[in-house]
Amino acid sequence: MMNVDRRAFFTYLGGSAAVAALSAEAKADALENYLTSNLVSTADSGGGGSGPRPPTVAELDAQIDTRGYRRGAGKLFAAEKGNVPHLQPMPEKPTLVDFIQLRFQGTSEHCLQSARLARSKNADEEMVLACLIHDLVLNVMRAEHGFWGAQMFEPYVSEKVTFAVRHHATLRFFPDQEAGYVYPELYRTMFGSDYVVPPHQQEEYKQVRKHRWYSAARLVTVNDLYAFDPNAKVSLDDFRDVIGRHFKQPKEGLGFDGSPVAHIWRTAANPDSPL
Ligand SMILES: [Fe+2]
Ligand SMILES: [Fe+2]
Repeated sequence: MMNVDRRAFFTYLGGSAAVAALSAEAKADALENYLTSNLVSTADSGGGGSGPRPPTVAELDAQIDTRGYRRGAGKLFAAEKGNVPHLQPMPEKPTLVDFIQLRFQGTSEHCLQSARLARSKNADEEMVLACLIHDLVLNVMRAEHGFWGAQMFEPYVSEKVTFAVRHHATLRFFPDQEAGYVYPELYRTMFGSDYVVPPHQQEEYKQVRKHRWYSAARLVTVNDLYAFDPNAKVSLDDFRDVIGRHFKQPKEGLGFDGSPVAHIWRTAANPDSPL
């Protein structure tokens, strides 16, 4: 690993056993997260302690004009390091599987692992699908990804799946001991150690908390983790049945069915278009 403190990276991931258990893609994902996680060395910053600490909101804010991209941009549109790769052409009538394989590589491993984890806990098929798609929109847009994701999938999945995808992003900030969900350490590095969830999201949480589908959205957050499992090489083939039964694939292909969100799929298919 170039320019990476191995020990700090391993600690970040939960030790060398956890690292050894990761698949190659999960390791690459984790490394990408680590490199962009902005951990600040306490030695450098006069913190007096040893090892890295999460940055403050002010420190993250100060980084904005040090980058050539904004952190809210979709993964398809900006490379955090180096250049963006050429994309393979899409088939004429693209399916969800085509998008996952040809455009959504940036999040597909994470989503597959979430779906696998949900299935291993006997979640119902609709919820397995919710986990499978919950972060795919990050390839198009990161800011407000719960709402963007719900919108993108709404015509093709049940209302409950849409609800779960829409609100998982906000529920990620709110622990639920009973459900076994704790505030993610990663968020301290991503949002700042002193980050406060804004009022509109506090309000969203209050509404969702008393909704009859709260547990569906919560289930996505509970399975929204790196699965440190030695057999975690998850194949999309394992989920073709769930997709077939619970994703309404339009016969014209995603992007060409005249739906109100078709342009989002066309954007993902063709992110190199200048207009
Ligand atoms: Fe998410
Ligand atoms: Fe996620």
